[in-house]
Amino acid sequence: MERLDKRLSQAGYGRREARELIRQGRVRVDGAPATRPEEKYLPGAAVTVDGAPLAEGFVYLMLHKPPDLVSSTEDPRERTVLELLPPELRRRGLFPVGRLDKDATGLLLLTDDGELAHRLLSPRRHVDKTYYIEVDGTLDEADVAAFAGSMTLRDGARCLPAVLKPTGPDRGFVTLREGKYHQVKRMCAARGKPIRRLVRVVFGPLELDPALSPGEWRALTRAETDALRAAGAGEP
Ligand code: URA
Repeated sequence: MERLDKRLSQAGYGRREARELIRQGRVRVDGAPATRPEEKYLPGAAVTVDGAPLAEGFVYLMLHKPPDLVSSTEDPRERTVLELLPPELRRRGLFPVGRLDKDATGLLLLTDDGELAHRLLSPRRHVDKTYYIEVDGTLDEADVAAFAGSMTLRDGARCLPAVLKPTGPDRGFVTLREGKYHQVKRMCAARGKPIRRLVRVVFGPLELDPALSPGEWRALTRAETDALRAAGAGEP
């Protein structure tokens, strides 16, 4: 059995707010108005607030990150991507799965499922990430070969083989199986071709939804969350 106010706070409402909603008669359990926050119910009972079912389980969102926001949960100086979400979702403790640089844009996964996030980011899982890039300079076959080998960055770090597919003289797609700090920028800089534009278009099984403009987000579909779980499956 579970206290009703606790159930509401697990779904993102503050404890005080949950009690207030219940007192105002806006919460129903299995269709009947609830009156007491401390009342206990079976975990399977259907709870609604203003008629809308309570969000249950984990939340998985795809955000099209715009430039100028940082992908952390809080920052003393900068605006964070979480500011794009409504308060009830922010209260759930969502966080970005991996980071995109402040000036980078594109697909950012947000969730409150810490275990899956950890699995997806584990270097051993090699979840592919693909970036659209534009650089200063001209991409050539020597760059493609360097990315495909185990490139050494200026600080001595060695990269796993990556795929560079130019689609024009100064642009193309890079696919990485790992996520070192500023990796794409550092790989391009090591080739003497600094990045001008960086957009993540693929994260594991997810593709950036072309219907999302920068700053917009949507919940993942069931098929997408199943695919993500499959990508993170296996021994941690
Ligand atoms: N590589 C980078 O350099 N920056 C990012 O934000 C992501 C990958």
